[in-house]
Amino acid sequence: RRTFRFFRRLTYLSVIVIAGGIIYDGYIDRHPDEQFDPDPKKKTLVVLGTGWGSVALLKKLDTSNYNVVVISPRNYFLFTPLLPSCTTGNIEHRSIMEPVRQILRHKKASVKFYEAEATKIDAENKVITITDNSEVQGATATTQVPYDMLVIGVGAENATFGIPGVREHSCFLKEIPDAQAIRTKIMDCVESAAFKDQPEDEVSRLLHMVVVGGGPTGVEFAGELRDFFDEDISKLVPEIAPKFKVTLIEALPNVLPMFSKQLIDYTEKTFKEEQIEIKTKAMVKKVTDKTVEAEVTGADGKKEIIVIPYGLLVWATGNAVRPVVKDLLSQIPAQKDSRRGLAVNEYLVVQGTRDIWAVGDCAVAGYAPTAQVASQEGAFLARLFNNMAHTEELETQIRELSTGLNLKPGNAAEAATQIESAERQLRRIKDVKPFHYSHQGSLAYIGSERAVADVAWFNGNLASGGKLTYLFWRSAYLSMCFSTRNRVLVALDWVKGKVYGRDVSRL
Ligand code: FAD
Ligand code: NAI
Repeated sequence: RRTFRFFRRLTYLSVIVIAGGIIYDGYIDRHPDEQFDPDPKKKTLVVLGTGWGSVALLKKLDTSNYNVVVISPRNYFLFTPLLPSCTTGNIEHRSIMEPVRQILRHKKASVKFYEAEATKIDAENKVITITDNSEVQGATATTQVPYDMLVIGVGAENATFGIPGVREHSCFLKEIPDAQAIRTKIMDCVESAAFKDQPEDEVSRLLHMVVVGGGPTGVEFAGELRDFFDEDISKLVPEIAPKFKVTLIEALPNVLPMFSKQLIDYTEKTFKEEQIEIKTKAMVKKVTDKTVEAEVTGADGKKEIIVIPYGLLVWATGNAVRPVVKDLLSQIPAQKDSRRGLAVNEYLVVQGTRDIWAVGDCAVAGYAPTAQVASQEGAFLARLFNNMAHTEELETQIRELSTGLNLKPGNAAEAATQIESAERQLRRIKDVKPFHYSHQGSLAYIGSERAVADVAWFNGNLASGGKLTYLFWRSAYLSMCFSTRNRVLVALDWVKGKVYGRDVSRL
């Protein structure tokens, strides 16, 4: 009984400590220190985007060293790894959004934010044209912002490879409005399939959910969709249950090409059990409002065209370069061979330019376009810029001390010591090592409370899949959420979903 009492008290104590931590974090969030305006004589550092790369930079940047201006059409940071869960309402979208103004309010020196899209970067004159694309516009909708230093972190857009019908008829899965559109369309299909006197073949079409692209986005979405149907829709609308079908179409011979063979096999086996049909070696060539046409290569190498009717089509075939980046590429002769984004050097400087850096999906640094890479690149640039500012400060200090500026008579010996110390510091900070990416592993949710993980383990790799990996996936993503507020909201969404089920109201 004594042991039991001890553990009970320990549990109470932990709950009090955790709750206290959350309340304290909330208080700090709402009442950050007063900000001051940076010296206007300092350089203007413009940051484009509020995604993984840019926000990682802003988090670690000492904003008192520059006049920082952030420009993005999105005034929030989005925790993309949990976006597939928003398509079914397993997580509410606001739980994975963090307002950028909240992030910037916590910086030492104030930062300007403009909600706008950069439409043109003039690298020669160091000016960016920005446009307010929102529905509500004031008298000025387009203007220019000059910069001394520029960081491009605009991410990428959805690749469609110019395939006819894709833009008009598919849903994408990159941003919050995409997830909301999918959530609405799923329920639209379900309600229309359940409509009185709906013909059998139309019910089958409406309930056929097709996902194109067997990368992690497509796989995670297919898994979430099947969970939604099995856990909620089939109970609420049982009469349509036998007709519900998910098909994943992939051009390559297998899904999740970046995972180890063992995990690919595990995913394909799990999908079979979940009744998600995988069509590999199937390249979609055309999309209409109700059908997908794919060229399938058989085991004998013969190709045939198949036509698949669908109710919902989600297109997840990877990234393409944004127009503003394409335009910049065309201005820089050194980038004439760049097709996938801005080629950068080992300090993330855009090749062929001065004072322009690029991070994340819009940069080609030799790594996969992932959040992990983008955030490490952003953090690297913050260290680099903090160092550069400190270097300039020390150089000015040395110059002033050596020329006797601000020196009181009889203080020459003290000045010499100060110069020596400043020079020592300068040597140390000038030695900035190039960017080095440290891969922590890949994780993906595959449905039925199972996940796959290829995690870096000492000098090797640990591959695991199943329910335990799912718990790891949940705790890893919960801990990686941007703020305590996000963590609490996501955890509450998970509990809410378990207790009450997902909300199937169609907006
Ligand atoms: P983004 O995060 O896309 O941010 C780009 C920013 O630029 C946005 O704020 C955008 O509004 C802004 N912008 C766009 N155009 C302009 C413009 N013209 N001017 C100014 N600003 C502009 N990676 C992982 O490592 N792990 C995962 O689990 C994972 N899950 C994912 C799930 C989904 C559904 C998706 C779509 C991606 C996932 N990724 C994951 C990939 C990851 O999200 C990206 O690699 C990452 O977001 C790239 O960061 P970024 O900063 O380059 O771009
Ligand atoms: P992707 O590029 O990883 O995969 C796209 C897939 O679509 C490819 O396998 C390709 O063969 C296939 N494809 C292309 N055209 C096709 C066509 N016409 N017909 C059929 N299939 C076609 O794209 P995804 O999944 O959007 O991921 C983008 C990036 O984000 C990747 O770097 C990925 O690693 C990262 N990401 C990581 C996640 C994770 O770690 N859990 C989750 C989601 C994305």
